[in-house]
Amino acid sequence: MEKLMIEGGYPLEGTVHISGAKNSAVALIPAAILAESKVTIDGLPNISDVHLLRELLEEIGGAASLEEKTLTVHPEKMIPMPLPNGKVKKLRASYYLMGAMLGRFKKAVIGLPGGCNLGPRPIDQHIKGFEALGAKVTNEQGAIYLRADELKGARIYLDVVSVGATINIMLAAVRAKGRTIIENAAKEPEIIDVATLLSSMGAKIKGAGTDVIRIDGVDTLNGCSHSIIPDRIEAGTYMILGAAMGKEVVVDNVIPQHVESLIAKLREMGISIEANEDQVVIRGNEERKLKSVDVKTLVYPGFPTDLQQPFTSLLTNAEGTSIVTDTIYSARFKHIDELRRMGANVKVEGRSAIINGPAQLEGAKVKASDLRAGASLVVAGLMAKGVTEISGLEHIDRGYEELVEKLSTLGAKIWREGLDQEEIKELKSS
Ligand code: EPU
Repeated sequence: MEKLMIEGGYPLEGTVHISGAKNSAVALIPAAILAESKVTIDGLPNISDVHLLRELLEEIGGAASLEEKTLTVHPEKMIPMPLPNGKVKKLRASYYLMGAMLGRFKKAVIGLPGGCNLGPRPIDQHIKGFEALGAKVTNEQGAIYLRADELKGARIYLDVVSVGATINIMLAAVRAKGRTIIENAAKEPEIIDVATLLSSMGAKIKGAGTDVIRIDGVDTLNGCSHSIIPDRIEAGTYMILGAAMGKEVVVDNVIPQHVESLIAKLREMGISIEANEDQVVIRGNEERKLKSVDVKTLVYPGFPTDLQQPFTSLLTNAEGTSIVTDTIYSARFKHIDELRRMGANVKVEGRSAIINGPAQLEGAKVKASDLRAGASLVVAGLMAKGVTEISGLEHIDRGYEELVEKLSTLGAKIWREGLDQEEIKELKSS
C-alpha cells in the first residue's frame, strides 16, 4: 500500500498529454461483448478499471489482451457466465456488463456494482429500460438477474437524465427487434463515443449526443476498430492545476468543446485561457490573484460534477465567497473535511460548499475517500505550503493514468511512498 507525497508551492510549466477517457473506456470494453468477431479499442488509459474489465471479459470466455494502449477482444467464444461476485463489485461501471450481455445472450447475472461512494446511486432507470425491452429483472442476494426470451424495441422515457442508463439501454437495444427510442437521454460525449463504436459494428443509432436517441435493432454485430476520445475530466483536472499553480500549462489532446463550461468559469476567475484545435493553454497570473465564482454542477454541457471537487480546492485561493452546488450527487463532499484540515475555510450546507478565501493551505496528512476527492487533494497539495501526504491512493489510480509522472514533468514535487505498519493499521480501522 502506498501514499502520495506532495511538496507544494512549486509552479507548473510545460505540456501534459491527456489519456483516453475513463468513462468511455469502461463502457466501450463491455460493448465489445456484443460483436461476433474481433474488436480493437485503441488509446485506452492505463488505469485499474480498464484492467479489471479486461479480466472480466476473460472470465466470460473472451480472449482479451492489452498491449500498450490497445485492447484486442475476441468475443466469439464468450458465454453468459454468471458474475454475481468478485471483480464486478470493485467498479461501478460493471453495470455495463448487464446491457451488453443481455443484448448478446438475452441473459446475465451481475453483482451489484461498487465504485465511488457519492451518496445514493440507484440503477432504477437502467432496470426500467431493460424491462421495457422485455427483460425480466430480479435482485437476488445482491446480484441482478436479467433474462428475456427476446428483446423488443420500445419507447423509454428516462425519469432522471443518466449517463449509465442511456448507455446501458443502448447496449441492449442494438440487438433488440425493432425500434427503441430513448427520451430524455443523457448527452455526454462518452455516449457519442459508445454509439460510434456500436455503429462501426453495424448498429443503427441516430441522435446520440441529443436527448432523443433512436436505435433500430439488428441481428448481428461485427468486429471493428475504434479509437477512444480524450478524457475531458482528466483534461479539466490539469486545467484547474494550471490555474492553481501554472506559469503556462499546455493541456494537449483535448476537445476544447468538451470543457467549455470549465473554460468559462476559469475565465470568470481571471485566468487567461487560449483554446486551440486540440490543446488548451492556461496562463496562471503571477500574483495568483483569483476572483471567487459560484458554480452549479449540471448534466452535460453544464459544469461536470466530476470536476466539482478539484474546482473547490482551487476556489480556496480565490478572493471572497464562492458557492459550489452539486445538483447531481447529494453527498459528494467528503473532500471538504480534508481541505479544512489543510486550512481551507469551507463549510457544507445541504448540497452546497461555501468557500471563503483566500486561504493559504498548509501541508497535512489527508485521505482520498473517492476518485475525484483524491484529485481535489492533489490540487490542494500542490497549492499548499509544506508536505501533504494523501492516503487512499487506490481511488486516484482508478482514474488518473501516470499522475506522478505527468505532474513531475510539469515541475511538481510529487512521489509515491510505501505506508508504514502504523498507517496501514490506521487506514484499516477508519
Ligand atoms: N440516477 C438515478 N437512477 C438511475 C441512474 C442514475 O436516480 O438509474 C441518478 C444518480 O443517482 C445521479 C444522477 O442520476 O444523481 C446521474 O447519474 P448517472 O447515471 O448519470 O451517473 P453514472 O452513469 O452512474 C457516470 C460517471 C460518473 C459521473 C456521472 C455523472 C461512469 C462510469 N461514471 O456515472 O463518473 O459522475 O456519470 O456525470 O461513467 C467519476 O468519473 O468520478 C464518476 C463518478
